[in-house]
Amino acid sequence: MRKKVIAGNWKMNKDLVETVELINGLKSVVADPKPGVSVVVCPPFTSLAVAANLLKDSVFKLGAQNMSEHDEGAYTGEVSWKMLKSVGCEYVVLGHSERRQYFSETNELINQKAKKAVANGLIPILCVGETLEEREKGITEQVISAQIRGVLSGLLSSDMERVIMAYEPVWAIGTGRNATPVQAQQVHQHIRKLVAQLYSWSLAEGLVIQYGGSVKPDNASDLLAQNDIDGALVGGACLKPDSFAQIIGSVR
Ligand code: PGA
Repeated sequence: MRKKVIAGNWKMNKDLVETVELINGLKSVVADPKPGVSVVVCPPFTSLAVAANLLKDSVFKLGAQNMSEHDEGAYTGEVSWKMLKSVGCEYVVLGHSERRQYFSETNELINQKAKKAVANGLIPILCVGETLEEREKGITEQVISAQIRGVLSGLLSSDMERVIMAYEPVWAIGTGRNATPVQAQQVHQHIRKLVAQLYSWSLAEGLVIQYGGSVKPDNASDLLAQNDIDGALVGGACLKPDSFAQIIGSVR
């Protein structure tokens, strides 16, 4: 059976004091996840070191929300894979739709970051998703295929063993309007088929594909019950310990 991964993307929320509060809250309410389930928290860069310290010996793993495609040097404002690893990150979210939309990230750039992450032992969570306009035009699968071919370009099968994909329809992020389980399942199945074509069925069968976009305690179990949905990338609801704990508990 595929493993499941529930990740919380804090986005640009929580200063240091609030980080300590939230992590302590999570530790007090999140029970040990079921076997085969990993739980990841992705605070902002400024909170990573403190979070790592508080999460030592806990069930939570640490992730970042972005990373530079470069190793080091004169790139003001950027953060490298090495810096992320040095504070204890194992995961990094790449190509989130907010990065694509507000920071002009392209599939090509996300691909460079993905290669850098896997080459250096970080697990990238690679995000893809269509806009509402694209869905209404009926081109969701074409859009997703182009994003996937772009972000995975040049990644080898051995690299893919360390990759997580996240399907996040842009119209569902932060809107309170999640994709229905059936809509999400269709796209997840499409992603798995495409990865099978690009690599192999056995690789695609093992690929973790998370759903993200308004995942909440009341919709998580129906979404996570779908065959090809292997976890969730949670935004708003991960900032509330009880909600995040319920979502983690929804994995069957
Ligand atoms: P949301 O965000 O759960 O607040 O919709 C999800 C995400 O952006 O990863």
